[in-house]
Amino acid sequence: MDRQKLENLLADMSVSEKIEQLVQLHGGFFGEVDMITGPAAEFKMDADRPYRTGTVLGEHGAEHLRNLQDRMMAKQPHRIPAIFMADVIHGYKTAFPVPIAIGSSFDPDLAEEIASAAAEEASAAGVHVTFSPMVDLVRDPRWGRCMESTGEDPYLNSAMAAAFVRGFQGDDISKKGKIAACVKHFAAYGAPVAGRDYNVTEISEHTLFEDYLKPYRAAVEAGVKLVMTAFNTIDRKPCTTNRHLLRDVLREDMGFKGVVISDYNAVGETVIQGSSADRADAAKKALIAGCDIDMMSDCYLNGLEGAIKSGEVDEKLLDEAVMRVLELKNELGLFENPYKDGSAEREKEVIFSEKIQALGRRAAEETTVLLKNDGILPLKNGQKIGVVGDLAQSKEIVGSWSIFADASRTVTLREALEKLCPETEFVFSGDAPTETELEKIASCDAVLLCLGEDQSRTGESMSVADISLSDGHRELFSRVSAVNKNTVALIYGGRPLAIPEVAKAARAVVEVWLPGTVGSYAVADIIFGKVNPSGRLSMSIPYCSGQLPISYSLFNTGRPKPETDSFVRYVSNYMDVPNRPLYSFGCGLSYCEIAYSEPILSKNVIRRGEKITASVSVENMGDSAVTETVQLYIRDIKGSVVRPLRELKGFKRVGLEPHEKKNVEFEISEDMLKFYDAEMNFTAEAGGFTLWIGHDSLTKNGADFRLED
Ligand code: GLC
Repeated sequence: MDRQKLENLLADMSVSEKIEQLVQLHGGFFGEVDMITGPAAEFKMDADRPYRTGTVLGEHGAEHLRNLQDRMMAKQPHRIPAIFMADVIHGYKTAFPVPIAIGSSFDPDLAEEIASAAAEEASAAGVHVTFSPMVDLVRDPRWGRCMESTGEDPYLNSAMAAAFVRGFQGDDISKKGKIAACVKHFAAYGAPVAGRDYNVTEISEHTLFEDYLKPYRAAVEAGVKLVMTAFNTIDRKPCTTNRHLLRDVLREDMGFKGVVISDYNAVGETVIQGSSADRADAAKKALIAGCDIDMMSDCYLNGLEGAIKSGEVDEKLLDEAVMRVLELKNELGLFENPYKDGSAEREKEVIFSEKIQALGRRAAEETTVLLKNDGILPLKNGQKIGVVGDLAQSKEIVGSWSIFADASRTVTLREALEKLCPETEFVFSGDAPTETELEKIASCDAVLLCLGEDQSRTGESMSVADISLSDGHRELFSRVSAVNKNTVALIYGGRPLAIPEVAKAARAVVEVWLPGTVGSYAVADIIFGKVNPSGRLSMSIPYCSGQLPISYSLFNTGRPKPETDSFVRYVSNYMDVPNRPLYSFGCGLSYCEIAYSEPILSKNVIRRGEKITASVSVENMGDSAVTETVQLYIRDIKGSVVRPLRELKGFKRVGLEPHEKKNVEFEISEDMLKFYDAEMNFTAEAGGFTLWIGHDSLTKNGADFRLED
């Protein structure tokens, strides 16, 4: 439909009809039961009104949505089609590894492929929009939603955010197999005080812009069609009614022109937060602030019409919001085809396809992180291997947002091992092995010990105060390692867990995360050496909860700690644990040693607009092929505000055959040196810098250079 027709349509709509286009309800409002006694009653809706709303939350299935679309359009005064939106976070029917694992691949191309595959499955099921990517930067694993994030670093999260948007949307969201993406949660939802979900954030404007906003900006620059407002406050103002955040920052500064949707009842929650007098006040504040769609509250439904008709709220604001929603429907092609590509035939054709399952397996190969290995891995086939822990036989390893996944298809580690290693004798036991089982474990050549958390322990609202292993798992580890020293710890979960005792005593430690529907095959292949691990931590693993929040990208303070783990008085450190994480961002091993040459710079001084080429040679010293993620970090030695000791500014995944050496180059530009200065100008300041190019965020392989005016 062309723009003029959209404008004519808008002009012909009543105020009530326009408001209804800005409301999103979940499927409970569209059941066949008597609506007046259902949730509609709370919203004081008659049986027809839900069908006049503009978008629907969480419904899926091609036939179901065709039917629902027909019923809704029949009740729409202008037969405007509805948009079906759902949380396809990291897969639809096929669950891929959780996003914190996807971040650990350091492979944006993989993220794009995953998003594209998820879009293919979801669009066949009639879904038009996904509430993904979730790009909330997070440096506190007490917050259960770190599972949904790609981690602690602005540069990595930005690369992943853009890749997810490209994968979901392609170059035209009306095309078959593509859906519109919604980046969330705007903004800084990943910085709740004390790591407690929904809590306020207390971060400076510099930290907001320098760390938390960059991934959203990357998603906007990649063309994301929707932005979802966050539950939290920033500077003591709820994001959903924060005009500065939504209009000045998101629309003016970032140039976002799409639809802003609130999180679930986030408009209504501003009353509880104490910044709106009542739900009508919340509705006014949210629309004025720039929130277009009110998800799952009755604020817009019952609170806006009076304000518009009385002139308290300019109808122009309503028209602008409605036009953005109509434009999104138009871009999706829904006026011409209200079902888009939802069809039962396509569901059969694309869901769980061989291609998608192969991608799910490859994804887990890239996201699994080998953290420690004294040489016990890879295991040899034909040995007698103990496999201990309930997690080895659990299907709860696909992530708590895999709400549409077919759990019956989840492959457990046990199933993968038995299928892929038939010549190996496995001895299985759960979280509480009997004395007889312990005797069998004692007789094994090695023990795979599955520790950590299943999917129920992370996700929305699943905050913990203590990120240690459970008492049961610590007890299990000590019982097993007492009878068999050859333990390989497989750590499951959607958050980094504090595992200092395991890291010390186990001969190998593997961060498995939550590997998804078919990811266990990859875990088995890595353990037995068919796959050379290449994952790198997207989020640091702390020694303990007391270190939180934590990141590799620290500040020097005025009293930096010398290079020691011992306590040093009168400097910034703890008496009981080191400052550094147990395992730092970007860390991860493979089965080969990788050698780096010192960086060579094309020059050591650049003027404005000039560039430096920094290169290293990277050599695979091992006998098997490997993918090495070469990482570039830069430090700005002095700024008009303090600057982190190092920041990730680039990474490249490099395939190396056995004993192959390759030259890897990075271009250092003035743009890479920019930051928000004392006056919040985004600029590069002349002065000294250090760059490092190496295997992880701990690399000391550095060289100095200067930027001069
Ligand atoms: C939830 C989540 C958000 C999700 C939305 C719709 O509360 O915060 O991430 O997209 O509601 O399910």
